[in-house]
Amino acid sequence: MTYEIAGKNPRLIISADEIAARVQGLGKELAAAYEGKNPVLVGVLKGSFIFLADLAREIRCEAEIDFVQVSSYGEGTSHGGLELLMRPSIPLSGRHVILVEDILDTRVTSSFLQDLLLSKSPASFALCALLDKRERREVEIEADYVGFTIETGFIVGYGTDYAEAGRNLPGIYVLD
Ligand code: PRP
Repeated sequence: MTYEIAGKNPRLIISADEIAARVQGLGKELAAAYEGKNPVLVGVLKGSFIFLADLAREIRCEAEIDFVQVSSYGEGTSHGGLELLMRPSIPLSGRHVILVEDILDTRVTSSFLQDLLLSKSPASFALCALLDKRERREVEIEADYVGFTIETGFIVGYGTDYAEAGRNLPGIYVLD
C-alpha cells in the first residue's frame, strides 16, 4: 500500500514484516531487562504512536504507558526551540522510565525530553528508538535500544510523517 506524498512515490526501505520482527526482538530485550520493575514507557507524540503500541504488546512483563508531546517552533525542519505540549501524567519519581521515540534525527527532541524526565528523579532512564538516523546529529545522545540504524533521506511511514501525511503507511519509506 503506498500513495503519493508531496508529489513523490515513497520508496520502501523497511517492510512491515521486518519491523514486526525487530519490534518483537526489542520487546524481548526490554522484558528481560525490566522484568519485575514495572517500567513506564513514555511515547513521544505523535510519531511514536504506532511503534509504542506494537512495542508495548511485545514486552511480556508488567509495564505502564504514558505520553509526552513537544512542538518545535523553529524554522523549517530544524528545531529552533521546543515547547512542551503534553507532560507525563504518571508520577515518575522512583520509576524506571523508557522514553520511546520513532526516530532520532538531530536528537534535540530526545535530549530535551531526557532532561525533562531526569528532572522527575526516576529510578532509571533509557531511550528506545525505532530508527536511529545518524546524518544530522546535533546532540551527543545515544539510544540504549535501537530498532534500525539508517543513514540518509526523509523518512515516512509507521508513525513518521511528511507534513502529517504518511503516518499510516505500514512500512518505513524514503521520499527521494
Ligand atoms: C519527529 C519525531 C521525533 C523528532 C526527532 O517529531 O517523531 O520525535 O522529530 O527529531 P530530532 O531528533 O531532530 O529532534 P516531529 O517534531 O516531526 O513531530 P511528530 O512526532 O508529531 O511528527
